[in-house]
Amino acid sequence: MSIKISAQNPDFAALNTPLLVLAMGTKPQLTRELSTVDKATGGALGRALKARDFRGARDEVLFLGGAASGIRRVLLVGTGKGEPRTDAVRRAATLAARRAGQLGTGALAFYAGALDGRSAEAAVVGLMAGAWHYDEVRTPLPKEEQRAPVTSGVVLAPRAASLARGIEAGVAIGEGQALARTLGMMPGNLCTPEVLARTAREIARRHGMKVTVLGRAEMEKLGMGSFLAVAQGAPHEDPKLIVLEHRKGRKDRRPVALVGKGLCFDSGGISIKPAASMEWMKYDMCGAAGVLGAMETIGRLGLAVNVVGLVGSTTNMPSGTAMKPGDVVKSHSGKYIEIINTDAEGRLVLADVLSYAKGFKPAAVIDAATLTGACIIALGHTATGVLGADDTLVQEVLDAGERSGQRGWRLPMWDEYKALLRSEVADIKHVGGRPAGTITAACFLSEFIEGTPWVHLDVAGTAFSETDLGIIPAGPTGVPVDLFVEFVRGRAR
Ligand code: BES
Ligand code: MN
Ligand code: ZN
Repeated sequence: MSIKISAQNPDFAALNTPLLVLAMGTKPQLTRELSTVDKATGGALGRALKARDFRGARDEVLFLGGAASGIRRVLLVGTGKGEPRTDAVRRAATLAARRAGQLGTGALAFYAGALDGRSAEAAVVGLMAGAWHYDEVRTPLPKEEQRAPVTSGVVLAPRAASLARGIEAGVAIGEGQALARTLGMMPGNLCTPEVLARTAREIARRHGMKVTVLGRAEMEKLGMGSFLAVAQGAPHEDPKLIVLEHRKGRKDRRPVALVGKGLCFDSGGISIKPAASMEWMKYDMCGAAGVLGAMETIGRLGLAVNVVGLVGSTTNMPSGTAMKPGDVVKSHSGKYIEIINTDAEGRLVLADVLSYAKGFKPAAVIDAATLTGACIIALGHTATGVLGADDTLVQEVLDAGERSGQRGWRLPMWDEYKALLRSEVADIKHVGGRPAGTITAACFLSEFIEGTPWVHLDVAGTAFSETDLGIIPAGPTGVPVDLFVEFVRGRAR
């Protein structure tokens, strides 16, 4: 479903496109170079700006008819003021491509003035994000009713040839994001642990990575009683621990490990969730999708680093074989865990995957998980929860989030919170109560990655949206693909 992306110098007189998008900030001007575009619209562009029909506010759009040939339609998209250039460009490009899809123009040309490598990359990421759609499980409309999906996008910018690397990076990120969003959008009956494993094998084959997939039997041998406690409620389905190894860095360099929670559906188990909105829990594998999407991008870019991607995938179900509150299990690390609420399954899976990840002797571990509803209460849908004890690594992750447009915000992990996990019967209990739910979840995880620099990302509020966000529809957002990629790129320099 990927779209064709290219870059071209803006020669509006020679331009032939079904849709020209002009991204403009507040106080938009009809500059000399736009006079050709004005002509194509029969003067409507100049009139609209003069009458202030379009003012360039963020997300503002105005559609104008174009000429019979050449520039056939024009769409103005506002970028607002005061935003960093790359973020504004990415956002406008996303909105533009989404509108092109709704109009059915099939292609579009995007112009936001002069771009540097970073903003060209952002434009491409935006175009691909806006063009993404998932209609595998919908019957197509009759031919005459169909609108053409966006299949190509052209970035117009001066010195286009010099932007080649930015464009290429944008395509790689766009593809990784699209992969993650497609996996996220897939219903739980179609996106199973086996499908995530197959996707990992395909990524490995495309980019020459090593792939290892462990099932229930292998995990039993490794003593992964915590992960398997979750999986035992779904006896019909083999849980998967998936490992992808990208080894393009120096041999003596320790890898970065990216870890993802891959619950293909989370019913809550015996501590079952309320029925309302339970269908959203198909998104409980967005952390895993983020890891796979990032590995796809890292492979495409051929980054000169060592990266290990790990995914723990299963389904949390109530059943006769399901784990029960009060059960005690022995984790891969050797620690005994008292299970309190079976709906806190993600941390049980991650405990064993993090402990297993230590075997790769990673320089840094970042996990991403739709881990707690409490994170949505704390930070809403705007920021990913960022937790970790290593201040330097936390800052590096926050910076990567900022640069990539997928922002995070730190929450503390003081010892007072850890005390809430004391168990009467086992080494630790796995839930610390309702207060500070995101923090105590991270404190629990920290017990299984001791001694390794580690940051936890709670993406419960950011990896998917229950509502249409305007620039993208309800569903997976692509978080945390860009953040992961940006972090790894930072290490590749
Ligand atoms: N997958 C959920 C968290 C979640 C909730 C993600 C809403 C996205 C949107 C997780 O497994 C869960 O159920 N967490 C519980 C933990 C509690 C039982 C301690 C929660 O947040 O309620
Ligand atoms: Mn749960
Ligand atoms: Zn969950």
